[in-house]
Amino acid sequence: MCNMGHFHTHGFGYLVDAPEIRALIEETERLRRTIPSDADRVDALRPAFAKLLAANGWLPDSCARPDEQSRMGGGIAQYALYRADDGSLCLFSLVVPAAAATPVHDHLAWGIVGIYRGRQNETIYERRDDGSDPTRADLEVTTQRTLGAGEFYTLLPPAEDIHYVQTVSEEPSISIHLLANDTACVWRHKFDPASGAVVPFRSGYSNAPCPPEARPQ
Ligand SMILES: [Fe+2]
Repeated sequence: MCNMGHFHTHGFGYLVDAPEIRALIEETERLRRTIPSDADRVDALRPAFAKLLAANGWLPDSCARPDEQSRMGGGIAQYALYRADDGSLCLFSLVVPAAAATPVHDHLAWGIVGIYRGRQNETIYERRDDGSDPTRADLEVTTQRTLGAGEFYTLLPPAEDIHYVQTVSEEPSISIHLLANDTACVWRHKFDPASGAVVPFRSGYSNAPCPPEARPQ
């Protein structure tokens, strides 16, 4: 489960085994077999994802609390709920304490993200450079919006893949992420829009270890 310091035996599969989670993962796998286009597939996933967001009782309290030890800082916790053995899919909860904000980051996979509890402001950036320098990015804000419980958005990189979120509710926000990679364990990127700096970023889960992997150069 999600208790700090007590990693699941090997950290893959259903770390939280609830029928509501199994229903979404099984539907995702079914749509993967039947819909080749990422855009069409995430669209087809909307009803199943909305159903999970609307359901109560499936997210343990231990996966819904901040983590002061997290690598993301600010008490921001990322709890794996399901991880495919081959790293091709994951479901996780992201807990962002009141007023805390994530770094500006990317995801590098298609997926769906929705708010389960609380409210978040989301700021989305677009790259204005050609991406040829891995250490620099020229970013411009394209969208700012506020999302509340039950609202969700799709991710289809590279479009709208760089963003940060900040909790604007008095209680921590909890968002649920279904993404086609092992998001917290892959090397992604953290951006500083003011200076243009890009650094490799692996957020890590609060309740599961990442496989050892060399930091990219
Ligand atoms: Fe994100």
